Amino acid sequence: MLVQLRPPTLDNSIVVKTLPMPNLSTLPLTALTLDEAARPTPPPVPEATDQHRQQGKQLALIHRHYLMEMARLSAVLARIEAGDAPPEHLKRIVLSLDMSENLRAFGSLCGQECRILMMHHDIEAADMFPRIEAAGSGLFAEIVAKLKAEHEVVHELLIRLDRAADALIADPTDENFGKAAAIFRHLESVIRSHFGYEETELAEAIGYYLGHI
Ligand SMILES: [Fe+2]
Ligand SMILES: [Fe+2]
Repeated sequence: MLVQLRPPTLDNSIVVKTLPMPNLSTLPLTALTLDEAARPTPPPVPEATDQHRQQGKQLALIHRHYLMEMARLSAVLARIEAGDAPPEHLKRIVLSLDMSENLRAFGSLCGQECRILMMHHDIEAADMFPRIEAAGSGLFAEIVAKLKAEHEVVHELLIRLDRAADALIADPTDENFGKAAAIFRHLESVIRSHFGYEETELAEAIGYYLGHI
């Protein structure tokens, strides 16, 4: 798989550089990271006003909603792990006496979360990224290429979590629960990082060039 990096040059022609992407499906979970050090900074939009920047915060608001959902799921996971001795802040999450029922419920919530996050990324890839990529004669092509590469990593994690969730629902063992829990926790940390980068660095461009998303 190849990722296109097309930073604009001074004369506004486009340099096309291709980077090989590893086959993510063969990598161990801990290797599915975002290479944060390689994140480019987008060019400033000198014409953007505070109103544009304010408008550009729409993406952060959408992300907050998804992060709250993930935090809820994370609390359910912690409650299941705590078993009969939950800490005070988890006591409001009531579990079934049948632990296999709890494990199946966690699997089912993970499956739902995967579908919701896939939809969010599909919308970004189909609508927001192309519009930002085209804005300012390709000024943002490099950052969009990086965001697309990060989506590949998130996508691989969503596929793995969805499969692990199905296995847990079909066979609610401690082993299957442990696998789904490990992928969920890794996904949550990757998503937080990706959302933070995307919403911060695209805010000005969204507000100025797109108006709404
Ligand atoms: Fe994204
Ligand atoms: Fe996003």
